[in-house]
Amino acid sequence: MGSFIGDNLYFKITQKDVEFTIPNGFPKPLYDFKNNNPTPAGFVLGRKLFYDPILSKDSSISCGFCHQRIAAFAHIDHPLSHGINGLIGKRNVPPLQNLIWNTSFMWDGRINHLEVQPLSPISNPIEMNETIGHIIQKLQRNKEYTVMFKAAFNDSIVNSKNMLKALAQFTGLMISDNSRYDKYMRGEDTLSATELKGLQLFRDKCEQCHKEPLFTDNTFRNTGLAPDTNLHDSGVAAINGQMKDMGKFKVPTLRNIEMTYPYMHDGRFRTLKQVLDHYTQKFTRESGADPILVKGISLSEADKTNIIAFLKTLSDQTFLHDRRFADPSGHY
Ligand code: HEC
Ligand code: HEC
Repeated sequence: MGSFIGDNLYFKITQKDVEFTIPNGFPKPLYDFKNNNPTPAGFVLGRKLFYDPILSKDSSISCGFCHQRIAAFAHIDHPLSHGINGLIGKRNVPPLQNLIWNTSFMWDGRINHLEVQPLSPISNPIEMNETIGHIIQKLQRNKEYTVMFKAAFNDSIVNSKNMLKALAQFTGLMISDNSRYDKYMRGEDTLSATELKGLQLFRDKCEQCHKEPLFTDNTFRNTGLAPDTNLHDSGVAAINGQMKDMGKFKVPTLRNIEMTYPYMHDGRFRTLKQVLDHYTQKFTRESGADPILVKGISLSEADKTNIIAFLKTLSDQTFLHDRRFADPSGHY
């Protein structure tokens, strides 16, 4: 067997593995694969880059270090991200799934394109602390990479454009569309009475922001969380300087939510119950909480149990165990 990762039979990627069709009931994606058509060679290159700490200054941190497959590519059990030299970041690592439907990226939406997104962690001094120029030099000196870039792109060039395209082929194909909820919607599975009650409650009380089938409406809202006095994270306001956007963060997807704890932009809640307890509180006008949430969402303890049962139907075992996305070196 050859030494190239793509040759490893266990992780072999075929044309069929990289074909994209819009899942049943999903809208048209925003990221257009027509301009970056996934190929087995491009996907395998993207995967190698994703799991390779060569992208960080001291070769200690890969994308996959923070974005773990078992947690739908969030960082399981870590409230805040951990980067180079053990430095702790300001935010909770979000899951990576259904990214091609995102209208923007990051908790504050400051990035608007999947292909430029990796430049942020790469250059962040507390994440990977590396420059794209230096990464490209390192990749150009690496025999395995030069062969893989050649296989993946017509122009064969090891440059940042191709590197970012390969990463987008890999992360763009991370699609969760086969949870029990999805199967129920397609008429392939049933939900229990508790789960169905939860779904009904969800549609009454949560759907306005966590819109099906992606479980986000891609807007930014203030959920009335008291600002963390150590982190001083003002959310969208820190990006655009607008007071009205203080404390607004992206409405996150709730797919695979069972696995992506702890919760919220700063990981302050360990359990779904704690998130629901938060939503039932009343907030003052000064808190800046979204009008939908100011009065608190009324939920009985039984309602909370039902909603949590429903949220767990969003766990997608197919996606979580999809070998295409596993670290070929077996590290993560
Ligand atoms: C040190 C941990 C860390 C590393 C390394 C890291 N990320 Fe992230 N990633 C995060 C955090 C934290 C956020 C959210 C940041 C924010 O909102 O400010 C994030 C956000 C993202 C998002 C946006 C998701 C969304 O729904 O908005 C994508 C995509 C992403 N990362 C991909 C990558 C890729 C690709 C790499 C490797 C080049 C990478 N990340 C490396 C921690 C990390
Ligand atoms: C007004 C819009 C809005 C409504 C209504 C709403 N949410 Fe949220 N939800 C958000 C936002 C925004 C966040 C992220 C907040 C943050 O991190 O600061 C969030 C975060 C969450 C999280 C944590 C996700 C993660 O990855 O950390 C869960 C779980 C959640 N909401 C569940 C619900 C449920 C269940 C309901 C209904 C009872 C609901 N939400 C109603 C906007 C909303």
